Amino acid sequence: MPAIVLVGAQWGDEGKGKATDALGQHSDYVVKFNGGNNAGHTVVIGGEKYALHLLPSGILSPGCIPVIGNGVVIDLAVLRSEMDTLTSRGVDCSRLMISADAHLIPSYNRILDKVAERFLGNRRIGTTGRGIGPTYADKMNRVGLRVQDLFDENILRQKVAGALDQKNHLLVKVYNRRAIEVEQVVEELLSAVEWVRPLTRDTGLELNRALDAGRTVLFEAGQAAMLDVDHGTYPFVTSSNAISAGACTGTGVPPNRIDRVVAVIKAYTTRVGEGPFPTELHDESGQWLQAKGHEFGVTTGRPRRCGWYDAVVARYASRVNGATDLVLTKLDVLTGLERVPVCVAYDVDGQRHEEMPMTQTDFHHARPIYEYLDGWSEDLSGCRSFDDLPAAAQRYVLALEGMSGARISAVGVGPGRDATVIRHEILG
Ligand code: GDP
Ligand code: IMO
Ligand code: MG
Repeated sequence: MPAIVLVGAQWGDEGKGKATDALGQHSDYVVKFNGGNNAGHTVVIGGEKYALHLLPSGILSPGCIPVIGNGVVIDLAVLRSEMDTLTSRGVDCSRLMISADAHLIPSYNRILDKVAERFLGNRRIGTTGRGIGPTYADKMNRVGLRVQDLFDENILRQKVAGALDQKNHLLVKVYNRRAIEVEQVVEELLSAVEWVRPLTRDTGLELNRALDAGRTVLFEAGQAAMLDVDHGTYPFVTSSNAISAGACTGTGVPPNRIDRVVAVIKAYTTRVGEGPFPTELHDESGQWLQAKGHEFGVTTGRPRRCGWYDAVVARYASRVNGATDLVLTKLDVLTGLERVPVCVAYDVDGQRHEEMPMTQTDFHHARPIYEYLDGWSEDLSGCRSFDDLPAAAQRYVLALEGMSGARISAVGVGPGRDATVIRHEILG
Protein backbone atom coordinates (compact mmCIF):
# COMPACT_ATOMS: atom_id res chain seq x y z
CA MET A 1 0.00 0.00 0.00
CA PRO A 2 2.65 2.52 -0.96
CA ALA A 3 0.96 5.93 -1.43
CA ILE A 4 -1.36 7.23 1.30
CA VAL A 5 -2.80 10.73 1.53
CA LEU A 6 -3.78 12.01 4.98
CA VAL A 7 -6.15 14.99 5.13
CA GLY A 8 -8.30 16.96 7.56
CA ALA A 9 -12.07 16.47 7.21
CA GLN A 10 -13.39 19.54 9.04
CA TRP A 11 -11.91 23.04 9.52
CA GLY A 12 -8.42 21.98 10.60
CA ASP A 13 -6.83 20.86 13.88
CA GLU A 14 -8.41 17.41 13.74
CA GLY A 15 -5.22 15.75 14.97
CA LYS A 16 -3.46 15.23 11.63
CA GLY A 17 -0.04 15.59 13.28
CA LYS A 18 -0.62 12.70 15.65
CA ALA A 19 -2.05 10.46 12.90
CA THR A 20 0.78 11.33 10.51
CA ASP A 21 3.35 10.57 13.18
CA ALA A 22 1.71 7.20 13.88
CA LEU A 23 1.66 6.21 10.19
CA GLY A 24 4.97 7.96 9.52
CA GLN A 25 6.77 5.49 11.74
CA HIS A 26 6.01 2.89 9.08
CA SER A 27 6.61 5.12 6.06
CA ASP A 28 9.74 5.83 4.05
CA TYR A 29 8.70 9.40 3.20
CA VAL A 30 6.32 11.93 4.76
CA VAL A 31 5.50 14.73 2.34
CA LYS A 32 3.77 18.08 2.91
CA PHE A 33 1.95 19.20 -0.19
CA ASN A 34 0.00 22.39 0.63
CA GLY A 35 -0.13 25.36 2.97
CA GLY A 36 2.72 26.70 5.01
CA ASN A 37 3.25 27.91 8.53
CA ASN A 38 -0.44 28.63 8.91
CA ALA A 39 -0.57 24.95 9.95
CA GLY A 40 0.17 23.80 13.47
CA HIS A 41 0.48 20.06 13.95
CA THR A 42 1.01 18.64 17.42
CA VAL A 43 2.79 15.37 18.08
CA VAL A 44 3.23 13.98 21.59
CA ILE A 45 5.87 11.27 22.03
CA GLY A 46 6.61 9.87 25.48
CA GLY A 47 5.22 12.99 27.17
CA GLU A 48 7.34 15.31 24.95
CA LYS A 49 5.26 17.71 22.88
CA TYR A 50 6.32 18.94 19.45
CA ALA A 51 4.48 21.69 17.53
CA LEU A 52 5.29 21.49 13.82
CA HIS A 53 4.40 24.20 11.33
CA LEU A 54 6.42 23.77 8.15
CA LEU A 55 8.21 20.51 8.79
CA PRO A 56 6.37 17.30 7.92
CA SER A 57 5.48 15.27 11.03
CA GLY A 58 7.69 12.48 9.64
CA ILE A 59 10.70 14.47 10.82
CA LEU A 60 10.19 12.81 14.24
CA SER A 61 10.57 9.27 12.85
CA PRO A 62 14.28 8.53 12.43
CA GLY A 63 13.88 6.18 9.44
CA CYS A 64 11.65 8.49 7.47
CA ILE A 65 12.58 11.14 4.90
CA PRO A 66 10.59 14.37 5.36
CA VAL A 67 9.77 16.25 2.16
CA ILE A 68 8.39 19.74 1.52
CA GLY A 69 6.59 19.49 -1.82
CA ASN A 70 6.15 22.09 -4.56
CA GLY A 71 2.63 22.97 -3.36
CA VAL A 72 3.88 24.34 -0.03
CA VAL A 73 4.69 28.02 0.55
CA ILE A 74 7.83 28.48 2.64
CA ASP A 75 8.80 31.23 5.06
CA LEU A 76 12.54 30.53 5.21
CA ALA A 77 13.09 32.23 8.58
CA VAL A 78 10.34 30.11 10.13
CA LEU A 79 11.71 26.92 8.57
CA ARG A 80 15.23 27.68 9.82
CA SER A 81 14.04 28.41 13.33
CA GLU A 82 11.86 25.28 13.43
CA MET A 83 14.81 23.16 12.32
CA ASP A 84 17.10 24.79 14.92
CA THR A 85 14.59 24.20 17.71
CA LEU A 86 14.14 20.54 16.77
CA THR A 87 17.88 20.01 16.33
CA SER A 88 18.47 21.39 19.83
CA ARG A 89 15.96 18.80 21.09
CA GLY A 90 17.95 16.00 19.44
CA VAL A 91 15.90 15.58 16.25
CA ASP A 92 17.94 15.06 13.08
CA CYS A 93 16.75 17.52 10.41
CA SER A 94 19.48 16.81 7.86
CA ARG A 95 17.28 14.35 5.90
CA LEU A 96 14.84 17.08 4.91
CA MET A 97 14.23 17.53 1.16
CA ILE A 98 12.75 20.74 -0.23
CA SER A 99 11.21 21.04 -3.69
CA ALA A 100 13.01 23.46 -6.01
CA ASP A 101 9.55 24.51 -7.23
CA ALA A 102 8.04 25.43 -3.84
CA HIS A 103 7.18 29.11 -3.49
CA LEU A 104 8.75 31.43 -0.92
CA ILE A 105 6.85 33.77 1.39
CA PRO A 106 8.68 37.11 1.11
CA SER A 107 8.39 39.58 4.00
CA TYR A 108 6.14 41.91 1.99
CA ASN A 109 3.44 39.23 1.79
CA ARG A 110 3.28 38.92 5.56
CA ILE A 111 2.73 42.68 5.73
CA LEU A 112 0.11 42.58 2.96
CA ASP A 113 -1.75 39.70 4.63
CA LYS A 114 -2.09 41.69 7.85
CA VAL A 115 -2.99 45.08 6.33
CA ALA A 116 -5.50 43.52 3.93
CA GLU A 117 -7.27 41.88 6.88
CA ARG A 118 -7.36 45.19 8.75
CA PHE A 119 -8.87 46.88 5.70
CA LEU A 120 -11.55 44.19 5.34
CA GLY A 121 -12.88 45.11 8.79
CA ASN A 122 -15.92 42.97 9.58
CA ARG A 123 -15.51 41.12 6.27
CA ARG A 124 -12.11 39.80 7.40
CA ILE A 125 -11.23 36.11 6.99
CA GLY A 126 -9.37 35.79 10.29
CA THR A 127 -6.19 34.60 8.58
CA THR A 128 -3.12 33.52 10.51
CA GLY A 129 -1.28 36.59 9.17
CA ARG A 130 1.57 34.49 7.83
CA GLY A 131 1.43 35.77 4.23
CA ILE A 132 -0.19 32.58 2.90
CA GLY A 133 -2.95 34.18 0.77
CA PRO A 134 -0.78 36.84 -0.91
CA THR A 135 1.90 34.23 -1.71
CA TYR A 136 -0.54 31.85 -3.40
CA ALA A 137 -2.03 34.86 -5.21
CA ASP A 138 1.47 35.75 -6.48
CA LYS A 139 1.91 32.16 -7.68
CA MET A 140 -1.29 32.37 -9.73
CA ASN A 141 -0.40 35.88 -10.91
CA ARG A 142 2.98 34.52 -12.01
CA VAL A 143 4.94 37.01 -9.91
CA GLY A 144 5.96 34.51 -7.21
CA LEU A 145 9.44 33.57 -6.02
CA ARG A 146 10.51 29.94 -5.96
CA VAL A 147 13.18 28.09 -4.01
CA GLN A 148 15.23 27.64 -7.20
CA ASP A 149 15.32 31.43 -7.72
CA LEU A 150 17.61 31.63 -4.68
CA PHE A 151 20.35 30.03 -6.78
CA ASP A 152 20.31 32.67 -9.53
CA GLU A 153 20.88 36.07 -7.95
CA ASN A 154 20.09 38.05 -11.12
CA ILE A 155 16.79 36.30 -11.67
CA LEU A 156 15.91 36.65 -8.00
CA ARG A 157 16.58 40.40 -8.06
CA GLN A 158 14.52 40.82 -11.25
CA LYS A 159 11.61 38.89 -9.78
CA VAL A 160 11.64 40.76 -6.48
CA ALA A 161 11.82 44.09 -8.33
CA GLY A 162 8.94 43.03 -10.61
CA ALA A 163 6.76 42.01 -7.69
CA LEU A 164 7.57 45.13 -5.67
CA ASP A 165 6.69 47.33 -8.65
CA GLN A 166 3.07 46.36 -8.04
CA LYS A 167 3.16 45.80 -4.29
CA ASN A 168 4.73 49.12 -3.39
CA HIS A 169 1.93 50.96 -5.19
CA LEU A 170 -0.55 48.99 -3.15
CA LEU A 171 1.31 49.44 0.12
CA VAL A 172 1.90 53.18 -0.28
CA LYS A 173 -1.18 54.39 -2.17
CA VAL A 174 -3.88 52.09 -0.82
CA TYR A 175 -2.66 50.96 2.56
CA ASN A 176 -0.66 54.03 3.58
CA ARG A 177 2.45 52.02 4.43
CA ARG A 178 6.14 52.57 3.65
CA ALA A 179 7.53 51.22 0.37
CA ILE A 180 9.79 48.17 0.63
CA GLU A 181 13.35 48.20 -0.76
CA VAL A 182 14.23 45.55 -3.36
CA GLU A 183 17.72 45.07 -1.94
CA GLN A 184 16.45 44.48 1.59
CA VAL A 185 14.24 41.61 0.37
CA VAL A 186 16.96 40.15 -1.88
CA GLU A 187 19.56 40.22 0.93
CA GLU A 188 17.18 38.53 3.34
CA LEU A 189 16.44 35.74 0.86
CA LEU A 190 20.08 35.27 -0.19
CA SER A 191 21.14 34.84 3.43
CA ALA A 192 19.42 31.43 3.33
CA VAL A 193 21.12 30.07 0.21
CA GLU A 194 23.91 28.27 2.04
CA TRP A 195 21.63 26.02 4.10
CA VAL A 196 18.78 25.70 1.59
CA ARG A 197 20.88 24.58 -1.40
CA PRO A 198 21.97 21.20 0.03
CA LEU A 199 18.36 20.35 0.94
CA THR A 200 16.87 21.28 -2.44
CA ARG A 201 15.79 18.45 -4.75
CA ASP A 202 13.63 17.54 -7.71
CA THR A 203 11.21 16.06 -5.17
CA GLY A 204 8.68 14.99 -7.82
CA LEU A 205 11.29 12.75 -9.43
CA GLU A 206 12.47 11.49 -6.05
CA LEU A 207 8.95 10.53 -4.93
CA ASN A 208 7.94 8.85 -8.19
CA ARG A 209 11.15 6.82 -8.13
CA ALA A 210 10.52 5.90 -4.50
CA LEU A 211 7.06 4.61 -5.46
CA ASP A 212 8.57 2.70 -8.41
CA ALA A 213 10.85 1.00 -5.89
CA GLY A 214 7.89 -0.02 -3.69
CA ARG A 215 8.57 2.50 -0.91
CA THR A 216 5.76 3.81 1.30
CA VAL A 217 4.99 7.50 0.88
CA LEU A 218 2.63 9.36 3.20
CA PHE A 219 1.27 12.75 2.08
CA GLU A 220 0.35 15.04 4.98
CA ALA A 221 -2.17 17.83 4.34
CA GLY A 222 -2.27 21.12 6.13
CA GLN A 223 -5.72 22.58 6.87
CA ALA A 224 -8.79 20.62 5.78
CA ALA A 225 -11.65 20.07 3.32
CA MET A 226 -13.79 22.93 4.65
CA LEU A 227 -10.81 25.30 4.34
CA ASP A 228 -9.95 24.16 0.79
CA VAL A 229 -9.94 27.11 -1.63
CA ASP A 230 -12.19 25.27 -4.13
CA HIS A 231 -14.29 23.00 -1.93
CA GLY A 232 -14.43 24.80 1.41
CA THR A 233 -16.59 27.60 2.79
CA TYR A 234 -15.24 30.21 0.35
CA PRO A 235 -14.20 32.96 0.96
CA PHE A 236 -13.61 31.83 4.57
CA VAL A 237 -10.92 29.37 3.51
CA THR A 238 -7.18 29.15 3.14
CA SER A 239 -5.61 29.70 -0.29
CA SER A 240 -4.51 26.19 -1.21
CA ASN A 241 -6.07 22.83 -2.09
CA ALA A 242 -6.13 20.95 1.18
CA ILE A 243 -8.12 17.96 -0.12
CA SER A 244 -6.50 14.73 -1.31
CA ALA A 245 -6.29 15.93 -4.93
CA GLY A 246 -3.89 18.63 -3.71
CA ALA A 247 -1.38 15.88 -2.95
CA CYS A 248 -0.98 15.34 -6.72
CA THR A 249 -0.62 18.95 -7.85
CA GLY A 250 1.40 19.71 -4.74
CA THR A 251 4.02 16.99 -5.28
CA GLY A 252 4.03 15.82 -8.91
CA VAL A 253 2.74 12.35 -8.01
CA PRO A 254 -0.22 11.52 -10.29
CA PRO A 255 -3.70 10.45 -9.05
CA ASN A 256 -3.42 6.87 -10.29
CA ARG A 257 -0.56 6.25 -7.88
CA ILE A 258 -2.60 7.07 -4.76
CA ASP A 259 -3.75 3.94 -2.93
CA ARG A 260 -5.53 5.17 0.18
CA VAL A 261 -6.97 8.41 1.52
CA VAL A 262 -7.17 8.78 5.29
CA ALA A 263 -9.39 11.60 6.53
CA VAL A 264 -8.86 12.71 10.11
CA ILE A 265 -12.01 13.90 11.90
CA LYS A 266 -12.67 15.03 15.46
CA ALA A 267 -15.47 13.48 17.51
CA TYR A 268 -16.84 17.05 17.68
CA THR A 269 -16.06 20.12 15.53
CA THR A 270 -13.81 23.16 15.87
CA ARG A 271 -12.99 26.15 13.72
CA VAL A 272 -10.46 29.02 14.06
CA GLY A 273 -11.03 32.32 12.28
CA GLU A 274 -14.22 33.63 10.70
CA GLY A 275 -16.88 31.94 8.58
CA PRO A 276 -20.04 29.83 8.86
CA PHE A 277 -20.14 26.90 11.28
CA PRO A 278 -23.65 25.36 11.67
CA THR A 279 -23.06 23.32 14.84
CA GLU A 280 -21.16 26.07 16.68
CA LEU A 281 -22.13 26.33 20.34
CA HIS A 282 -22.37 29.74 21.96
CA ASP A 283 -23.32 28.39 25.38
CA GLU A 284 -21.56 26.60 28.25
CA SER A 285 -21.39 23.34 26.22
CA GLY A 286 -19.07 25.13 23.78
CA GLN A 287 -16.93 26.42 26.64
CA TRP A 288 -16.89 22.92 28.13
CA LEU A 289 -15.62 21.41 24.84
CA GLN A 290 -13.03 24.16 24.48
CA ALA A 291 -11.68 23.68 28.01
CA LYS A 292 -11.83 19.86 27.99
CA GLY A 293 -10.32 19.58 24.50
CA HIS A 294 -7.70 22.33 25.09
CA GLU A 295 -8.99 23.98 21.94
CA PHE A 296 -6.53 26.78 21.41
CA GLY A 297 -4.67 27.29 18.11
CA VAL A 298 -1.15 25.86 17.88
CA THR A 299 -0.09 28.64 15.49
CA THR A 300 -1.83 31.78 16.75
CA GLY A 301 -3.00 30.75 20.24
CA ARG A 302 -6.53 31.87 19.35
CA PRO A 303 -9.38 30.03 21.10
CA ARG A 304 -11.06 27.62 18.69
CA ARG A 305 -14.81 27.87 18.16
CA CYS A 306 -16.42 24.57 19.23
CA GLY A 307 -19.53 22.62 18.26
CA TRP A 308 -20.96 19.12 17.95
CA TYR A 309 -20.07 16.54 15.31
CA ASP A 310 -21.48 17.42 11.91
CA ALA A 311 -22.23 14.35 9.77
CA VAL A 312 -23.12 16.51 6.74
CA VAL A 313 -19.58 17.91 6.81
CA ALA A 314 -18.20 14.39 7.36
CA ARG A 315 -20.05 12.95 4.35
CA TYR A 316 -19.00 15.88 2.19
CA ALA A 317 -15.36 15.60 3.25
CA SER A 318 -15.39 11.82 2.63
CA ARG A 319 -16.77 12.44 -0.85
CA VAL A 320 -14.47 15.26 -2.02
CA ASN A 321 -11.43 13.47 -0.62
CA GLY A 322 -12.39 9.95 -1.72
CA ALA A 323 -11.74 8.86 1.87
CA THR A 324 -11.06 5.15 2.27
CA ASP A 325 -10.56 5.43 6.04
CA LEU A 326 -11.51 7.84 8.78
CA VAL A 327 -9.44 8.43 11.90
CA LEU A 328 -11.82 9.66 14.60
CA THR A 329 -9.90 11.72 17.16
CA LYS A 330 -10.46 13.09 20.67
CA LEU A 331 -13.27 10.69 21.59
CA ASP A 332 -11.90 10.87 25.15
CA VAL A 333 -12.88 14.56 25.33
CA LEU A 334 -16.59 13.65 25.18
CA THR A 335 -16.45 11.55 28.36
CA GLY A 336 -18.87 12.87 30.98
CA LEU A 337 -21.75 13.90 28.73
CA GLU A 338 -25.15 12.40 29.44
CA ARG A 339 -26.23 12.70 25.81
CA VAL A 340 -24.09 13.54 22.79
CA PRO A 341 -25.80 15.53 20.04
CA VAL A 342 -24.82 14.70 16.45
CA CYS A 343 -25.91 16.84 13.52
CA VAL A 344 -27.40 14.47 10.93
CA ALA A 345 -28.82 17.01 8.46
CA TYR A 346 -29.53 20.74 8.07
CA ASP A 347 -32.72 22.70 8.06
CA VAL A 348 -32.44 25.46 5.48
CA ASP A 349 -35.48 27.73 5.48
CA GLY A 350 -37.75 24.79 6.35
CA GLN A 351 -36.16 22.30 3.93
CA ARG A 352 -34.16 19.28 5.10
CA HIS A 353 -30.69 18.96 3.54
CA GLU A 354 -28.80 15.68 3.92
CA GLU A 355 -25.93 17.00 1.80
CA MET A 356 -23.99 20.26 1.78
CA PRO A 357 -26.24 23.01 0.36
CA MET A 358 -25.23 24.20 -3.09
CA THR A 359 -24.79 27.88 -2.17
CA GLN A 360 -22.94 29.67 0.61
CA THR A 361 -26.09 31.68 1.33
CA ASP A 362 -27.94 28.46 2.16
CA PHE A 363 -24.99 27.19 4.18
CA HIS A 364 -25.04 30.42 6.21
CA HIS A 365 -28.72 29.75 6.95
CA ALA A 366 -28.27 26.05 7.75
CA ARG A 367 -29.61 25.04 11.15
CA PRO A 368 -28.44 21.69 12.52
CA ILE A 369 -30.92 18.86 12.97
CA TYR A 370 -29.66 16.79 15.90
CA GLU A 371 -29.94 13.19 16.94
CA TYR A 372 -29.00 12.44 20.53
CA LEU A 373 -26.78 9.49 21.38
CA ASP A 374 -26.11 8.10 24.85
CA GLY A 375 -23.00 9.41 26.56
CA TRP A 376 -20.55 7.56 28.85
CA SER A 377 -18.66 8.48 32.00
CA GLU A 378 -15.66 6.12 31.85
CA ASP A 379 -12.12 7.41 31.20
CA LEU A 380 -11.13 6.20 27.71
CA SER A 381 -7.44 7.06 27.80
CA GLY A 382 -6.33 3.48 28.59
CA CYS A 383 -8.46 1.82 25.88
CA ARG A 384 -6.45 0.18 23.11
CA SER A 385 -9.02 -2.06 21.42
CA PHE A 386 -12.60 -1.43 20.36
CA ASP A 387 -13.81 -3.90 23.02
CA ASP A 388 -12.09 -1.80 25.72
CA LEU A 389 -14.42 1.12 24.95
CA PRO A 390 -17.61 1.43 27.03
CA ALA A 391 -20.69 0.20 25.17
CA ALA A 392 -22.09 3.74 24.66
CA ALA A 393 -18.78 4.96 23.21
CA GLN A 394 -18.77 1.96 20.86
CA ARG A 395 -22.30 2.85 19.77
CA TYR A 396 -21.23 6.48 19.20
CA VAL A 397 -18.36 5.36 16.94
CA LEU A 398 -20.57 2.93 15.00
CA ALA A 399 -23.32 5.53 14.58
CA LEU A 400 -20.80 8.07 13.26
CA GLU A 401 -19.35 5.46 10.92
CA GLY A 402 -22.83 4.78 9.51
CA MET A 403 -23.39 8.43 8.62
CA SER A 404 -19.90 9.66 7.66
CA GLY A 405 -19.14 8.00 4.33
CA ALA A 406 -16.17 5.76 5.19
CA ARG A 407 -15.09 3.16 7.73
CA ILE A 408 -13.59 4.43 11.00
CA SER A 409 -10.25 2.68 11.12
CA ALA A 410 -8.79 4.25 14.24
CA VAL A 411 -10.10 6.15 17.25
CA GLY A 412 -8.01 8.61 19.27
CA VAL A 413 -8.36 8.42 23.05
CA GLY A 414 -5.56 10.80 24.08
CA PRO A 415 -2.82 13.02 22.63
CA GLY A 416 0.02 10.49 23.08
CA ARG A 417 1.45 8.49 20.20
CA ASP A 418 0.01 5.22 21.53
CA ALA A 419 -3.37 6.50 22.75
CA THR A 420 -5.26 5.02 19.81
CA VAL A 421 -7.77 2.25 19.28
CA ILE A 422 -7.04 0.50 15.98
CA ARG A 423 -10.01 -1.09 14.21
CA HIS A 424 -8.53 -1.69 10.75
CA GLU A 425 -4.88 -1.60 9.70
CA ILE A 426 -4.49 1.36 7.34
CA LEU A 427 -1.10 0.42 5.92
CA GLY A 428 -1.82 -3.31 5.76
P1 GDP B 1 -3.66 19.14 13.43
O1 GDP B 1 -3.47 20.55 13.01
O2 GDP B 1 -4.72 18.44 12.66
O3 GDP B 1 -2.37 18.35 13.44
O4 GDP B 1 -4.16 19.20 14.94
P2 GDP B 1 -3.58 20.13 16.13
O5 GDP B 1 -2.27 19.59 16.58
O6 GDP B 1 -3.65 21.55 15.74
O7 GDP B 1 -4.69 19.94 17.22
C1 GDP B 1 -5.04 18.68 17.71
C2 GDP B 1 -4.81 18.65 19.24
O8 GDP B 1 -5.44 17.51 19.78
C3 GDP B 1 -3.34 18.54 19.62
O9 GDP B 1 -3.15 19.21 20.83
C4 GDP B 1 -3.16 17.03 19.82
O10 GDP B 1 -2.11 16.71 20.73
C5 GDP B 1 -4.48 16.65 20.39
N1 GDP B 1 -4.96 15.29 20.09
C6 GDP B 1 -4.84 14.59 18.92
N2 GDP B 1 -5.53 13.42 19.02
C7 GDP B 1 -6.08 13.40 20.25
C8 GDP B 1 -6.95 12.48 20.94
O11 GDP B 1 -7.36 11.45 20.41
N3 GDP B 1 -7.32 12.83 22.21
C9 GDP B 1 -6.92 13.98 22.81
N4 GDP B 1 -7.34 14.24 24.05
N5 GDP B 1 -6.12 14.86 22.19
C10 GDP B 1 -5.71 14.59 20.93
P1 IMO C 1 -3.87 22.89 10.50
O1 IMO C 1 -2.99 22.29 9.43
C1 IMO C 1 -7.13 25.61 11.49
C2 IMO C 1 -7.61 29.12 8.90
C3 IMO C 1 -7.38 30.47 9.52
C4 IMO C 1 -8.35 31.32 8.71
C5 IMO C 1 -8.25 30.70 7.31
C6 IMO C 1 -7.32 31.45 6.36
O2 IMO C 1 -3.19 23.05 11.81
O3 IMO C 1 -5.17 22.17 10.59
P2 IMO C 1 -4.67 31.61 6.18
O4 IMO C 1 -3.66 32.16 7.16
O5 IMO C 1 -4.45 30.19 5.81
O6 IMO C 1 -4.86 32.49 4.99
O7 IMO C 1 -6.07 31.68 7.00
O8 IMO C 1 -7.79 29.38 7.51
N1 IMO C 1 -6.50 28.15 9.04
C7 IMO C 1 -6.51 27.12 9.88
N2 IMO C 1 -7.42 26.74 10.82
N3 IMO C 1 -6.04 24.84 11.27
C8 IMO C 1 -5.14 25.19 10.33
O9 IMO C 1 -4.11 24.40 9.98
C9 IMO C 1 -5.33 26.39 9.60
N4 IMO C 1 -4.64 27.04 8.62
C10 IMO C 1 -5.39 28.10 8.28
O10 IMO C 1 -7.68 30.48 10.89
O11 IMO C 1 -9.66 31.11 9.17
MG1 MG D 1 -3.44 22.47 13.78
